Amino acid sequence: MGILVDDETIELYNYIVTRLNEYDLAYLHLIEPFTDVSDNSYAIQEVAKHFRKIYNGTIIINRGFNKKTATKVLQDGYADLVSFGTPFIANPDLVERFKSDAPLNQPDQATFYTPGEKGYTDYPTLNN
Ligand SMILES: Cc1cc2nc3c(=O)[nH]c(=O)nc-3n(C[C@H](O)[C@H](O)[C@H](O)COP(=O)(O)O)c2cc1C
Repeated sequence: MGILVDDETIELYNYIVTRLNEYDLAYLHLIEPFTDVSDNSYAIQEVAKHFRKIYNGTIIINRGFNKKTATKVLQDGYADLVSFGTPFIANPDLVERFKSDAPLNQPDQATFYTPGEKGYTDYPTLNN
């Protein structure tokens, strides 16, 4: 994989996000790193926490959250909303499952980038 960040990346995004405060945006949607970047000084490990200090508007965060960690990031005040990708693919009734602390279907990564209904519309809800 090529180099995705360098010694100007954090400074650049600090500038961009600071300037975004000048616009009346509905929200800023941020994504946490896909991999562990704790040993990379050019990358930010906790994106929401970092940009919360810079951005004054609504922040949506995602990537790798579950009900517990999402609740925590909201309680910590680092984001206003959390969105879900893979948990929603595997759980069409994700909201209901979170509400009732029901177990979640596990997503099948083998079907993530394949055509057809398999892996998209065939995960069971709690009631079927
Ligand atoms: C099958 C699949 C395809 C995705 N495709 C894209 C994409 O094309 N562009 C993009 O920015 N994010 C893409 N994402 C990332 C999601 O938009 C979202 O940010 C991410 O899944 C959230 O993290 P979570 O799945 O851990 O909740 C994709 C995710 C999945 C699971």
